[in-house]
Amino acid sequence: MIKITVFASGRGSNLQAIIDAVSSGYLPAEICLVVSDREGAEALSRADRAGITNKFIDPKSFEEQADFEAELLAELRGVGVELVVLAGFMRILSADFVGEFSNKIINIHPSLLPAFKGLEAQKQAVEYGVRYSGCTVHFVDRGIDTGPIILQAVVEVKEDDSVEDLAARILEQEHRIYPRAIKLIAEDRVKIEGGRVIIEGG
Ligand code: GAR
Repeated sequence: MIKITVFASGRGSNLQAIIDAVSSGYLPAEICLVVSDREGAEALSRADRAGITNKFIDPKSFEEQADFEAELLAELRGVGVELVVLAGFMRILSADFVGEFSNKIINIHPSLLPAFKGLEAQKQAVEYGVRYSGCTVHFVDRGIDTGPIILQAVVEVKEDDSVEDLAARILEQEHRIYPRAIKLIAEDRVKIEGGRVIIEGG
């Protein structure tokens, strides 16, 4: 049973998908803590409803990003976390923080990386006019939206898609592949070799 902590800034629908995957027995994980950097984030209420310890840590109450991250680290160490899951966490973690949890932080991004990094990936895809986009689960390294790719799902972009239409279709796939990626890690089937992920047994 892998111990995970989820960082989320907003709506928390990916967090919900992970909570549901744990309660259905699909995902052999214990969500020991949910942290948000935004007060009143829906993610925190979702954690509450599921009986999961959750915390708002206010970045503005620290002088420096390093102090905020020191607080995050203390929380993570306190619960003995094995995997940090970023689920709509809209804050860039420093290289030092990432170094502390090397290959133990994963993220989901709403595009087929390395395309459309950064904010509003779905809008970038619609504006560019790609025929396919999707989502990516990856290990977090010191870059932004970089790091070894664990799973991706492809979504067709229709010509009359609004950004919201595409985002909704991508989100459905996010909810499918994020619990699956965590399950693969929990089963110790995910190895990194030469910057690429190898999934053992499939
Ligand atoms: C998701 O679409 C996630 O891929 C995206 O934020 C949304 C969070 O939704 N993350 C990023 O853009 C990170 N760069 P949720 O709060 O409902 O899970």
